[in-house]
Amino acid sequence: MRIRKAVFPVAGLGTRFLPATKASAKEILPVVDKPLIQYAVKEAIAAGAEEMVFITSHTKNSIMDHFDRDYELEATLEAKGKEELLKAVKDVLPPGISCVYIRQPEQMGLGHAINCALPAVGDQDFAVILADDLIAGSFQPCMAQMQRVYQEYGTSVLAVQRVPWEETYKYGIVEVEPIGPGLSEIRGIVEKPDPDKAPSNLAVVGRYILTPRIFRLLDKTQPGAGGEIQLTDAIEALMGEQTVLAYEFEGTRYDCGSKFGYLKANVEMGLQHHEIGDEFRSYLKNLTAGWDDDNDTSRTD
Ligand code: G1P
Repeated sequence: MRIRKAVFPVAGLGTRFLPATKASAKEILPVVDKPLIQYAVKEAIAAGAEEMVFITSHTKNSIMDHFDRDYELEATLEAKGKEELLKAVKDVLPPGISCVYIRQPEQMGLGHAINCALPAVGDQDFAVILADDLIAGSFQPCMAQMQRVYQEYGTSVLAVQRVPWEETYKYGIVEVEPIGPGLSEIRGIVEKPDPDKAPSNLAVVGRYILTPRIFRLLDKTQPGAGGEIQLTDAIEALMGEQTVLAYEFEGTRYDCGSKFGYLKANVEMGLQHHEIGDEFRSYLKNLTAGWDDDNDTSRTD
């Protein structure tokens, strides 16, 4: 059992990064030297997926361009003997991987976006990756970890992590019954509850393995939180019919949909970068060396 198709909802406006995202997709914003969407696609491929399904909108041509072969660029790099760069460009989409683009005609929420993937996904189980949740720093990429769970249980799996209680209003929050280390069965799920109404502080992050039954349920899903058709609400209906698991993945998640999370991802992944990591580390050391002295106005204690 292997997931062959991965869906990437990328039609959002990216308003939190305006004006950077005025003419280009937010998923094209780079973390160090690769766009967010490339990390997501790489993660799907590492989990065994072969077909990438992008749910896109009219402002997202940069995503299609990114995953197209650029023969002119490749020829130029080859002629100049820039082997490493040539490899980096060719690696954007390895051989045997295909891309499908589906337009989401209106922005009606994550659930609506996923439902647009039906013609490409059909009756197969599939993965969903939200590119602005960047997950790194583990022994195995997050979706590959989830794929192992899926192989064992053959059912829907959602990636979850503990978040501060005061942040439950930003996430889908689950109520669970543990069945093993880091693995639970979901008993309840609610989209963006206020902290006093949240059933737990276990939040869904942007990784899902879903059965195709979700499409039928999405068809019937009415607008929910924020007036949008929520994937969370369709998952709640799915739980009534099938087992849905919550998996606490290993790794660090960066919320690259927020400026702070995006900066953290760049700093931490910059520090690990093979080319610039060491130089960046000593730069940061020098920069922060004087921050602890008495002149530090940012201290609150
Ligand atoms: C979406 C989902 C939410 C999930 C979150 C993870 O919300 O609706 O359930 O917890 O992604 O990032 P969004 O961040 O698109 O508002």
